[in-house]
Amino acid sequence: MSPETTRFATRAVHAGTQHDPNTGAVIAPISLSTTFAQSSPAVPLGNFEYSRSSNPNRADFESAVASLEGARHGLAFASGSAATATILHAFAPGSHVISGADVYGGTHRYFTKVAQSHGLEVSFSTDLIRDLSSLIRPGTTKLVWLETPSNPTLSITSIRDVADLAKEHGLLLVVDNTFLSPYLQTPLIHGADIVVHSVTKYINGHSDVVMGIALMNDEALFHRIQFLQNAIGAVPSAFDSWLAHRGLKTLHLRSRASSLNAQKVAEFLQANIETGKVLHVNYPGLDNHPNRDVVWRQHREGLGGGMISFRIAGGLRAAEKFCQSIKIFALAESLGGVESLAEVPALMTHAGIDPAEREKTGVYDDLIRLSIGIEDGNDLVADLIQALDQAQELQKINGVR
Ligand SMILES: Cc1ncc(COP(=O)(O)O)c(C=O)c1O
Repeated sequence: MSPETTRFATRAVHAGTQHDPNTGAVIAPISLSTTFAQSSPAVPLGNFEYSRSSNPNRADFESAVASLEGARHGLAFASGSAATATILHAFAPGSHVISGADVYGGTHRYFTKVAQSHGLEVSFSTDLIRDLSSLIRPGTTKLVWLETPSNPTLSITSIRDVADLAKEHGLLLVVDNTFLSPYLQTPLIHGADIVVHSVTKYINGHSDVVMGIALMNDEALFHRIQFLQNAIGAVPSAFDSWLAHRGLKTLHLRSRASSLNAQKVAEFLQANIETGKVLHVNYPGLDNHPNRDVVWRQHREGLGGGMISFRIAGGLRAAEKFCQSIKIFALAESLGGVESLAEVPALMTHAGIDPAEREKTGVYDDLIRLSIGIEDGNDLVADLIQALDQAQELQKINGVR
């Protein structure tokens, strides 16, 4: 289904979905067979041979997400991290990668602790547009890795500007689009070569599947990564592919609802800077976000997405007390599900990063990250009011500010 002829919601519901030719079932059965019969040697009866190489549920899901990202090809993986690792295997030993500094902690861990073992070197930048040209090592730099919004400080980078610089120097650009989902942002349209997602987050949306996907247009790149998908074999099960495809069908509804809720929550937190309970709010939907102009160019209708981070007054102890006091929000890692979550990156998702390094990107001990779900926004605000009050009480008792 192409973006030229159908709108996003129609593609979310119908792309990659065919009625079963044998039974007429509107929803595809889960195809658990690991192998597929052939009519003569090396002549399969249908499109499939062996389930690691491809299977009906994974193929349906891959083509559905490709349709939503405006991509020709999609390749699904056992996790977002497996997608990252497989893409990096496409580059020869000795290759150099330039990455945004505030990427997902696991991506940072892979870049700094695993990639060297297959001969890749990675440089980090807190401002790719400013630093890219000076970080390039002629002949060896091959790839630029970007997350926008970044995790967890929600800084925004113009994909078009980075893509133009990357093209000028013959580099590929990968954009991790996990934080927004294709409903809010489609990086290929802005010049990216590959989009990756932790499907675990918004695309599946129900916190019950771990999966990843990579999307691209270029045929040679597709064939190279498809080869590695099969050769390395970090692929999702048919059941997970089926579940994630079911989740995808409501992406437009969930993504919009969580973004509208997040706007309400961010405005509430911003108002609490005046009361002294909150020090700072990072949210791309706020008019005072430093890159709000890029948000308008890059995000659907200028929506800010479902992720917020803020610095609570009272330091780490207040952040901990806040997280122990929330009732509707769950204190948990991950994001992008129907339910709202809160976490302290310095102690949880970003604990593996050296404190001085993480503070350079604004990840202080008092930073709290919220993943806003699709509950009633007023109930979420009420939960935050009581949790902020409890954190404030602690400050009064301890006399800290
Ligand atoms: C932005 C981003 N990219 C990639 C990943 C890795 O995905 P997974 O947990 O599915 O391996 C995550 C996980 O939190 C993430 O937040």
